[in-house]
Amino acid sequence: MNIQTIILAAGAGTRMHSNKAKVLQKIGGMSMLQRVLDTADSLGSSSTVVLGYDKDGVTEHLKNIKNNALTAIQEKQIGTADAVKSAMHNTKPGEKILVLYGDVPLISTESLRLLIDNSQDGFSILTTCLEDPFGYGRVVLDSNNKAKAIVEEKDANEEERQIKEIFTGILCIDQELLETGLKEINNENNAKEFYLTDLVKIISSKGINIIPIRAKNEEVRGANSKSELETLESILRQMKAEDLLNNGITLADKSRTDVRGTVEAGTDCSIDVNVILEGEIKLGNGVSIGANNYLKDVVIGDNTTIEPFSHLCNAKVGSNCSIGPYARLREGSVIEDEAKVGNFVETKKTTLGKGAKANHLTYLGDAEVGESTNIGAGTITCNYDGTNKHQTKIGEKSFIGTNSSLVAPIEVGKNAYVGAGSVITKDVPDNALAVGRGKQIIKEDWSKDKK
Ligand code: UD1
Ligand code: CA
Repeated sequence: MNIQTIILAAGAGTRMHSNKAKVLQKIGGMSMLQRVLDTADSLGSSSTVVLGYDKDGVTEHLKNIKNNALTAIQEKQIGTADAVKSAMHNTKPGEKILVLYGDVPLISTESLRLLIDNSQDGFSILTTCLEDPFGYGRVVLDSNNKAKAIVEEKDANEEERQIKEIFTGILCIDQELLETGLKEINNENNAKEFYLTDLVKIISSKGINIIPIRAKNEEVRGANSKSELETLESILRQMKAEDLLNNGITLADKSRTDVRGTVEAGTDCSIDVNVILEGEIKLGNGVSIGANNYLKDVVIGDNTTIEPFSHLCNAKVGSNCSIGPYARLREGSVIEDEAKVGNFVETKKTTLGKGAKANHLTYLGDAEVGESTNIGAGTITCNYDGTNKHQTKIGEKSFIGTNSSLVAPIEVGKNAYVGAGSVITKDVPDNALAVGRGKQIIKEDWSKDKK
């Protein structure tokens, strides 16, 4: 069975007070639209995004996130039925049509599967029950608990307003049924809009059973304002943190752990407060992540500790390493087993060999550091000549003295020493000592004679 998803995203979302289309607002570091598209993709469905307000911005965004969804343009935002109509040319008879909202980003694959599986008669709708249903379309049931109508707030009578079961906007319907139903929808209502929700009355009157599937409140919340966006952010945070806990990761505080991507972890990992995990994160066993760390696309080996206030991005860290506090591992950093990166150390496109140490105040860029080598405090690889980047190679078991500048391209051999304060411009052979600094002079009794 082929599923076609139509994602409504034409609305301006004026209450966001933003120049961007509402669906481009982010939750957990990812646009609401991308989340909805990813969920549709997880069902094996193809998608059409209905565009209107800021259509160029949304089209550009689709390119950036490399999603191959089709788009359809709704010229004027005259109602949800008209929005769906504008995407019908991408649908075919025999398909199931799933309608999603671009501003309802937390809907789960499981709920959508349940919705689709219950559309055997041709039509099912996703509902939820709210203590305060104000503003939503109310679901009117028949004596068999099948939906017979959805009444919008503006059109509801006193009795209908008491109904707590509301329509989430999400529905699944056979293409042919949708095609015929759309033709019968008019805009004779208090909002003068073409309501997609009128489908329910039209189709149930043909004797077709419409099964309401109830979803959890949190999943079907939409975001119309920055305040609602923040609510969704915190719901997502809780959901993701629960996933971590269920996978056996110890969290100091689930309301202060932000997972904005995927986390795979072994056993006995722990995460302290205010940690942000983005992109793809892979942790081995016994990894400890201290407070206030930011990690994006990082792989960390067994029993490694990330001390507080570090920033790791596109980096690979081995087992039994210690990183931070205040370390910055940038793209292409490879820290091998048992190595140490201390405070105020920045690495980029650099491999730090097994058991090597860069404990304080250092920049290592485009460098290869051998096993067990010690990089003294204040060492800088001068990798940039203003035009090009150059490599620094340091062999194993070497010692770079404090406050040394290694002017790349340069090679320091193995078991070699560089004296503190040196500016190294020529290669240093294996086992040698290089000192490149002004000679110290002593002026005896200099201060006594000073006037
Ligand atoms: C809609 C439902 C209501 C439901 C609620 C759930 C209708 C008539 N009502 O109401 O039953 O309880 O959602 O949130 O459908 N959009 C377009 N083009 C348009 C109009 C809207 O693309 O011409 C898009 C919007 O960008 C938005 C979605 O459709 O993503 C819903 O539109 P909105 O106007 O917010 O509908 P509601 O009044 O909230
Ligand atoms: Ca809405």
